[in-house]
Amino acid sequence: MSDNERVTLAFSGGLDTTVCVPLLEEEYGYDEVVGVTVDVGQPAEEFAEAEETAEALDLEHYVVDAKAEFADLCFDAVRANASYQGYPLGTALARPVIAAAILEVAEREGCTGLAHGCTGKGNDQLRFEAVWRDSEMEVIAPVRELGLTRSFEQEYAAERNLPVSGGDEGKYSIDTNLWSRSIEGSELEEPSYVPGEEIYEWTTAPGEETLELEIGFENGYPVSLDGNEMEPVELVEELNDVAGAYGVGRSDIMEDRMLGLKVRENYEHPAATVLLNAHRALEDLVLTKEERAFKGRVDHEWSEKGYQGLVNAPLVGALEAFIEKTQTRVTGTVTIRLEGGQARPVGRDSTYAVYSAEASSFDTEDVMGGIEQADATGVAKYHGFQERLANSIIDGQE
Ligand code: ARG
Repeated sequence: MSDNERVTLAFSGGLDTTVCVPLLEEEYGYDEVVGVTVDVGQPAEEFAEAEETAEALDLEHYVVDAKAEFADLCFDAVRANASYQGYPLGTALARPVIAAAILEVAEREGCTGLAHGCTGKGNDQLRFEAVWRDSEMEVIAPVRELGLTRSFEQEYAAERNLPVSGGDEGKYSIDTNLWSRSIEGSELEEPSYVPGEEIYEWTTAPGEETLELEIGFENGYPVSLDGNEMEPVELVEELNDVAGAYGVGRSDIMEDRMLGLKVRENYEHPAATVLLNAHRALEDLVLTKEERAFKGRVDHEWSEKGYQGLVNAPLVGALEAFIEKTQTRVTGTVTIRLEGGQARPVGRDSTYAVYSAEASSFDTEDVMGGIEQADATGVAKYHGFQERLANSIIDGQE
């Protein structure tokens, strides 16, 4: 290696990434480590922890604000009704945004390597590296490559006097951003274990109260709450607060990871639940039956690529071309009632509604274009013709 090789590390200030700092010098021969924390809406304490730890480590450290970009991607996910096995993809969608922001800093800072603190068991290693391996940089995963365990990391940190926040990060592994908060590890790993209220931070247990909200959409993008136009970041933050107080957006699922492991996951995502439910309700009003059915398949594929962290795949571009075409009519408002931990659509309105009160009503003589009730007689005669014929043949054979 030539003189003064620098490596950029995705840095959170937690135990994994803290031990990575000396390891990148000692085990990988780098002269300098640059830490980068990307803001995708984590709580303020996490930045304070990253800053403090970086300072104590004497680490060159940058914070990059990618909240707006991340929120835009979350809203693309809303247009795709994105969910993977019941999970609205908060962590998954954040990774390519974080990876790209880190790569940018690495290039700016003249680094030749990129490192993350992910283990070899999860999805995040794959999502980060899918972006990074598109560059010339060396990609390093110390935790995975050196087979580090938590207890080794704790001992290593203690031996070297590394600043690990009191040595205790709580018993769960938490990943928080604008779109979701994930809680895993410890006894939650056991699928039969019933978690208590203590695992939740964004949501309170649903009570008796209810609240109605009106969400406005333009071209499939959420744009307003109760008539007030809001930027994506602001809208998501507000809805997380409002709907979280009604216990909306908790999920406890069995998730099939990319490597094939099945794991138990708990999530909180109040804003995602409200916006996804509202968006789907508006699509139900303005899209034809065939569009709804076909879009379900497109949405499923979008969600798979989103889970894999491959939102830049050509397939996603092609799926989005279809989605874009459908969303030109997804403009209007949806009333959502927060009740019993649910966010239920209770009203919807759009000038693009594929709905004719006249045609569907029981009270009018004429349907559009002079079609009369009696015109259905022919259809009714044919309906089930093939089934009746098939059954008579089957009966004749018995
Ligand atoms: N299983 C989710 C995913 O792969 C979330 C993982 C979050 N990580 C964590 N340490 N809680 O997207």
